[in-house]
Amino acid sequence: MKLRMKVLFALLCVTGIGVILNGRVLRGLAEYALPEDTSPCTKRLSEDDRRLMHCFNKSVEPFLSANYSLPEDAFNWWKRLQVEQRSFRAYTETVDRLFEIIPPSPGLTEPSPDCCRTCAVVGNSVNLNGSHYGPDIDSHDIVIRMNHGHTKGYEADVGTRTTHHVMYPESAVDLDITTHLVLVPFKILDLEWLMKALTTGFYGKSYAPVKSNITANRELVMVVNPAFMRWVHDSWLMKKGQYPSTGFMVLILALRICDEVHVFGYGADKDGNWSHYWEKLKNKKFKTGIHPGTHEYGIIRKLAEQQKLKFYEGC
Ligand code: C5P
Repeated sequence: MKLRMKVLFALLCVTGIGVILNGRVLRGLAEYALPEDTSPCTKRLSEDDRRLMHCFNKSVEPFLSANYSLPEDAFNWWKRLQVEQRSFRAYTETVDRLFEIIPPSPGLTEPSPDCCRTCAVVGNSVNLNGSHYGPDIDSHDIVIRMNHGHTKGYEADVGTRTTHHVMYPESAVDLDITTHLVLVPFKILDLEWLMKALTTGFYGKSYAPVKSNITANRELVMVVNPAFMRWVHDSWLMKKGQYPSTGFMVLILALRICDEVHVFGYGADKDGNWSHYWEKLKNKKFKTGIHPGTHEYGIIRKLAEQQKLKFYEGC
């Protein structure tokens, strides 16, 4: 009898503990499930979405200004792009001199608060030929072109207006007085070139011939921040390739300063080369050079799918 009582007592204890534990587990699950079930947010963020949100982070200034200080680690990243030998001090002194001749702040840094600023970003792809995108490109508030991208003779496909022209010394072209010159600097020499080409003339040497003088309105000059270039490489391209192409940096810049971004003239030819709309490709082994062109293209397509921009694929 004594033994039976003990067994019964033991069984009761086990069952009791089980019920308590089960209750806790169920309650725990219910607590865990509660926010999910009752949350008004039905959309779950994918890894890609999270990365995109991170990429849309606005903490890095897109342009240099007189009172901006480049972090030294960003300078160290930048100086490796085209093997800059000079010091951080040489950089800061050059920038100080530069801002004596160009406006101290760039004037266009964020989307306009009360109107929808639409931008056309025009890359130099051969896929513009025969596209008839010209009128569409010209219809935007801002039309950004780059490097040797020009309009004469190609108006029907590429348009006629240019509000901003992005370049570096080795790709520089003359501009009219209403167009903003946007310099993408890769070395201290590029900043010196800008100062001198706009004033007394530049007679130094680079890895390719550079124009000694440039026609452009000094009041409309803007300079891309090296820290922004690094941020595009790290956050958007996950450090793929040596550094982002000019076109990719410009596109990310446009996402930053425009309310609506329309992208034209991006995409390699059928052999995977970055051919231009104005010339027959000479070097068929060029592909996309030192830039992660296929990866960049994939990101552009993804942004288009997610309706962050409108992508015109061309012909
Ligand atoms: O050749 P270039 O660098 O002047 O072209 C400007 C930009 O246009 C490139 O940096 C690249 O992002 C884009 N491009 C492209 N497909 C091409 C040619 C250029 O996506 N076929």
